[in-house]
Amino acid sequence: MAGQADRQAAELAIRTQKLNLWYGTFQALFNIDLGIKQGIITSMIGPSGCGKSTFLRSVNRINERLGYVRISGSIDVMGENIYDPGVELVQVRKQIGMVFQRPNPLPISIRENVLFGHRIHTAGRKSSKNEEDDIVEDALKTVLLWDKVKDRLDRKATALSLEEQQKLCIARLLPVKPGILLMDEPCSALDPKGTEAVEELIWELRGRYTILIVTHNMAQARRASEECIFMLMGKVVEHTETGEMFVTPRHKETADYIEGRYG
Ligand SMILES: Nc1ncnc2c1ncn2[C@@H]1O[C@H](COP(=O)(O)OP(=O)(O)O)[C@@H](O)[C@H]1O
Ligand SMILES: [Mg+2]
Repeated sequence: MAGQADRQAAELAIRTQKLNLWYGTFQALFNIDLGIKQGIITSMIGPSGCGKSTFLRSVNRINERLGYVRISGSIDVMGENIYDPGVELVQVRKQIGMVFQRPNPLPISIRENVLFGHRIHTAGRKSSKNEEDDIVEDALKTVLLWDKVKDRLDRKATALSLEEQQKLCIARLLPVKPGILLMDEPCSALDPKGTEAVEELIWELRGRYTILIVTHNMAQARRASEECIFMLMGKVVEHTETGEMFVTPRHKETADYIEGRYG
């Protein structure tokens, strides 16, 4: 019977089964069964408070920092349940990079920001200055920031514009070579020009990474993703090919949300 089902599972970067999550006694996620395909961009939409950030934070195990969070069910990343006792957090973090709503560069130089995660994950094997120069250049080129900052790599990252900071926050994930990028409303703190620039960049990364992006921006979801997930009150209502969701949503709740009938 190993066959189609196995093959499909193997093409999934992230797979959750019966995922439930509670903050204390409050249940925020209900029976989430999702398969996020490898190598494409999946967007996640839904009204404020429906559990999008909670879901993302579960996938790289940030929620567990909070002592009052409880989870049941499973989350497989590249076929391995990341909540298995044998799985180390640092391995999970190596596979998955995360970008937050507000750019959060460290208050150190641009260069040191790009190298920060890389150094943590290669502890014990120090890279040469040349290797590090290449890593910095590659990462900053990928996020289209190199030309702008190449002459001021030693300046503080926090002096950059918000748009540049967010690009830097994406750049610093890349040297660690994650297969998966989680982005939680990465453009929400940016002005329209910054939003456009960062969206374009995310689009450029398509095919090289599995990207799961939360957005309130329907146009962004529509433009920038191949598949789309609509969540409501802690549940997945619909997960389908983006074009299809926006043209012929299967559920009334999805249609209502897309057409802006609620939050
Ligand atoms: N750290 C937390 N402690 C307790 N409740 C939380 C916490 N974070 C989120 N929640 C609650 O969980 C629900 C989902 O929140 P969230 O995942 O932030 O939604 P979204 O990202 O879709 O806006 C909300 O009701 C929110 O108030
Ligand atoms: Mg959120």
